[in-house]
Amino acid sequence: MKLVVVAQIKDRIARLGIPGYGEDEIEFIVQTLRLAKPKAIFEWGTNYGASARIFHEAASILKLDCVIHTTELPIELAGISPEHAGTNTGVIFHGIDSIVRHTGDGVTESLLAYRQGGSPRSLFFLDGDHTTENVLRELRWVHAVAPKAIILVHDVSPDRQPHSHAHGPHRALEQFRRECGAYLVKIVASQAGMARLSP
Ligand SMILES: C[S@@+](CC[C@H](N)C(=O)[O-])C[C@H]1O[C@@H](n2cnc3c(N)ncnc32)[C@H](O)[C@@H]1O
Repeated sequence: MKLVVVAQIKDRIARLGIPGYGEDEIEFIVQTLRLAKPKAIFEWGTNYGASARIFHEAASILKLDCVIHTTELPIELAGISPEHAGTNTGVIFHGIDSIVRHTGDGVTESLLAYRQGGSPRSLFFLDGDHTTENVLRELRWVHAVAPKAIILVHDVSPDRQPHSHAHGPHRALEQFRRECGAYLVKIVASQAGMARLSP
């Protein structure tokens, strides 16, 4: 049954042509949703909307009653955020009402939304600017405000990343683990690398 559901989710994501995530990462996301059974997912940055749509499709096949919040920097900052999708932000999930869009700094907006009625059964997905300072700030803030939430961090495999911020999430995760022993950490060695922190 479990494998059938995972295959169904992978198949739907492939048919929709949602880019950017390998099968191992999709499996890891599905495994995490099964574990967390989140009432709310908070993710940033939105970009074209791939990860938000994957969460939506997986949650709907798993029959989870779950709201997805996604945050992107303001369009005025597109010039200094090289990956910003500009006016195409969120196009991949256009028309899906259960995905709530926010504009601003990801961790700030997400924690505001979390405080306004978020369940302790929440999941956070960190995929913003990938600098060590920011990812560390995001991990610390999520831990301080939502200590029972499960956290996913994307792009934690430094050796496999071609871009300049390659080491940011990896270094931030290492530092966070040195200062906080509150999580069990599991990493999927996918192309980009994804870490799951379970309290
Ligand atoms: C690697 S992309 C995210 C990909 C996205 N998760 C997907 O699956 O398509 C990084 C995004 O984070 C945005 N970003 C950078 N810093 C941010 C911040 N502090 N808050 C919110 N979004 C941020 C960028 O503008 C960019 O669109």
